[in-house]
Amino acid sequence: THDARAGSPGGQVTIVAHRGASAYAPENTLPAVDEAARRGFSWVENDVQRTKDGELVVIHDDSLTRTTNAEKVFPGRAPWKVKDFTAAEIARLDAGSWFGPAYAGTRVPTLKEYLRRVEHNHEKLLLEIKSPELYPGIERETLKLLGNEGWLDRQHLGRLVVQSFSTDSLRIVHDLKPGLTTGYLGTPPAADLHTYAGFTDLINPSHKSVSRDYVTTVHSYKGPHGRPLGVFAWTVDDASTARNVAGYGVDGIITNRPDVVRKALSAS
Ligand code: G3P
Ligand code: CA
Repeated sequence: THDARAGSPGGQVTIVAHRGASAYAPENTLPAVDEAARRGFSWVENDVQRTKDGELVVIHDDSLTRTTNAEKVFPGRAPWKVKDFTAAEIARLDAGSWFGPAYAGTRVPTLKEYLRRVEHNHEKLLLEIKSPELYPGIERETLKLLGNEGWLDRQHLGRLVVQSFSTDSLRIVHDLKPGLTTGYLGTPPAADLHTYAGFTDLINPSHKSVSRDYVTTVHSYKGPHGRPLGVFAWTVDDASTARNVAGYGVDGIITNRPDVVRKALSAS
């Protein structure tokens, strides 16, 4: 896999294990990180939110109900929003049983635990700041933790991308740490790409909204680090879609089934 910072058109397609290898282990957990590594994938994606007492945790939904047993452990706490629970409360939850009995007892990881596991496995991280409008200041806090854990050191920067659906959030991240690689989740109109190129290195669209023309257009802009903007498409879980979007010239594919994508691309 090539360095995501390069975003180089025509390079090898980077495969990113979405929420970890989330077709095979519960999403956004340490087992999902391990499962990606075990299958030989170096990039994992995750989602970062914040507890009531300010701990950064890794979970996709802004409610705990789909991926934990919060309703059972804390009856009467509807609607079970992440932001209304302390880190100690969230640490009591089971974030694995919903996926399968083999994962009973798996916890919602803190971002710190998650970063350490990714580091331990020598993996690379596509970190999404999820629903930042719910968590004012989360960008600065995330960067602070990344810095404390060594992820903002020069030699680490090529292993990290911070992405968001929020342009406000990405601008904050870029202003706080201009050397960091960033990704915008969405499909900005071509006419707006010059603005995005001021603060994002990657344009990461839904695979449903991507075309060869769009990828070519995105590649024609240079991002904040002077390299062509890259394109990572999500969430591609079947072989024919993987071959199609690779044929459009995308630089990366974000997938719950990284092995399916790898096989599709190697067979093409
Ligand atoms: O990485 C792309 C993808 O994660 C964006 O959508 O809802 O899965 O966070 P979502
Ligand atoms: Ca995500």
